[in-house]
Amino acid sequence: MERIAFFDAKPYDKAWFDKANTKYDIRYYESRLCPENTKLAEGCTAVCAFVNDVINAKTIDKLYELGVKVLLMRCAGFNNIALSAAKGKLKILRVPAYSPYAVAEHAMGLLLALNRKIPRAICRTRDFNFSLVGLTGFDLHGKTAGIIGTGKIGRVFIDICKGFGMKVIANDPYPAEINDIEYVSKDELFKRSDIISLHCPLTHETRYIIDEDAIALMKKSVLIVNTSRGQLIDSEALLSALNDKRIGGAALDVYEEESSLFFEDNSDKIVTDEVISLLVSRPNVIITSHQGFLTEEALHNIADVTLQNFDDFLQGKELVNEVKPND
Ligand code: NAI
Repeated sequence: MERIAFFDAKPYDKAWFDKANTKYDIRYYESRLCPENTKLAEGCTAVCAFVNDVINAKTIDKLYELGVKVLLMRCAGFNNIALSAAKGKLKILRVPAYSPYAVAEHAMGLLLALNRKIPRAICRTRDFNFSLVGLTGFDLHGKTAGIIGTGKIGRVFIDICKGFGMKVIANDPYPAEINDIEYVSKDELFKRSDIISLHCPLTHETRYIIDEDAIALMKKSVLIVNTSRGQLIDSEALLSALNDKRIGGAALDVYEEESSLFFEDNSDKIVTDEVISLLVSRPNVIITSHQGFLTEEALHNIADVTLQNFDDFLQGKELVNEVKPND
């Protein structure tokens, strides 16, 4: 029976993969994949990894030496892989789409929660504080949403925004072939938007797409939503803008230094990351722990497609979900 070493395994991963798996010996490990623990993959043909596993050249070389043939990413993004190091050593397969609805709906949930101050309201009513002071939001209807990245998730989010009666503008170097989106330059999007939502991948071009210069162009009331990747935003610039009231607020499902914090319970630890400590303490910031993908439908699809990718690899079929080193 072919073996898969499954890193960064959480109970929900195990539940959905065990349901979908009929053929393989899956060895679940709670630790994240990194150069120091590759030995756990000894005897395995495949390694299954996730967004914050450390898949640098060292990890790849060690896996290759152990005889691992394929890296099964159970996610869409692959910015944590040293792709060039994998050339000729490991095949990389991913799940390009599992539920754009999951992430887009979470983005809208964050936007509503931030704008209408729902987390603060719930904290108050739990303490029998029924005051409304400080909880005023604004109607989304009629406001302008600026969407960066109009791929699968961005387009679902656009439809949701339109359902709310919002005007939508967008920026994407590869515009979608549908003509009901008004594409504008990034600067124009920053200037005109009441809400900015990020739905592009993390690349050299998009790293810190929201920085001091971008923020300087934005409306003082703008709400920024990031469900894509943390490094799309310069967090220090964001914090400084929040402190100076140069933006209205931020809702973040991702954070540039999330790998040491997210997906884990750190509640009894001293968190030394001062930027996130200050961000969470701001009344106009809400943060979730990279949970945009976390719906039953998405977990079901992730397990199915990941195992199908492995089937295809073993049977020598065409690898439709391969990430090529120059992608
Ligand atoms: P996609 O590949 O369908 O769409 C990405 C879009 O971004 C494409 O249209 C592309 O042309 C555009 N883009 C590329 N470079 C750009 C740039 N410089 N400026 C503006 N747009 C640019 O990807 P999909 O499925 O919509 O996912 C988007 C992102 O969402 C992923 O890259 C990933 O980072 C994030 N994601 C987050 C999840 C979460 O749990 N929070 C789960 C899944 C994905």
